[in-house]
Amino acid sequence: MKYIIANWKANKNLQETKDWLDIFLERYKPNPEVKVIICPPYPLIYYIQQILNNQSKNITIGSQDISSFEKGSYTGEIPASVLEGLVEYVIIGHSERRKYFNETDEILFKKANIALNKKLKPIYCIRDIKDKIPPNIECLAYEPVYSIGSGRNEDVNTVLKIKNSIQLGNQTKFIYGGSVTEKNAYEYWQTNEIDGLLVGSSSLDPEKFSSLVIDAASQENY
Ligand code: PGA
Repeated sequence: MKYIIANWKANKNLQETKDWLDIFLERYKPNPEVKVIICPPYPLIYYIQQILNNQSKNITIGSQDISSFEKGSYTGEIPASVLEGLVEYVIIGHSERRKYFNETDEILFKKANIALNKKLKPIYCIRDIKDKIPPNIECLAYEPVYSIGSGRNEDVNTVLKIKNSIQLGNQTKFIYGGSVTEKNAYEYWQTNEIDGLLVGSSSLDPEKFSSLVIDAASQENY
């Protein structure tokens, strides 16, 4: 099973989400070997879930973050308990959270722990091998900062070297992210060592994203 994760970041309103889903669901033919995880802004999660419930496609939803607090008097926060039943996955430790919101390893470990307690599956992001990795996470995403949104995707051999220098549990999926497009996705896809891709900019356009999912997974590219 391979994973393709769409990280929409702080993009798309309700109408844009409807338009995206119309195009994507029309074009995407499910592949039992591929799991697509859409990570939209919080207010769109329920709407997407309702649309996907009527489809028999292998697509699921993730949130882009969770609070480091449990439920309670924390105005504006979205704790894991609020997301139960709405999402299967949660991205934790994205470099933008670390940079703009000062999230430290300590905070991120706490979030990973809270997510696991609520049966949400963390997609835990690291920027390089110096970032610490919490135990028992389902997916580890390696995203070098210089590759994010820059068009300078990391070459496959370097990604594999990084993977080999990290201690990963047998069950942990290794994901690459950083300027993945419909043009380069298959390079990562062809190796069994990389279990999936985390896609930012190229996930915003439903045509590009469906091409990416279809092409990456197509046997013709092997
Ligand atoms: P990008 O973003 O695909 O636009 O480089 C990836 C990410 O930040 O997860």
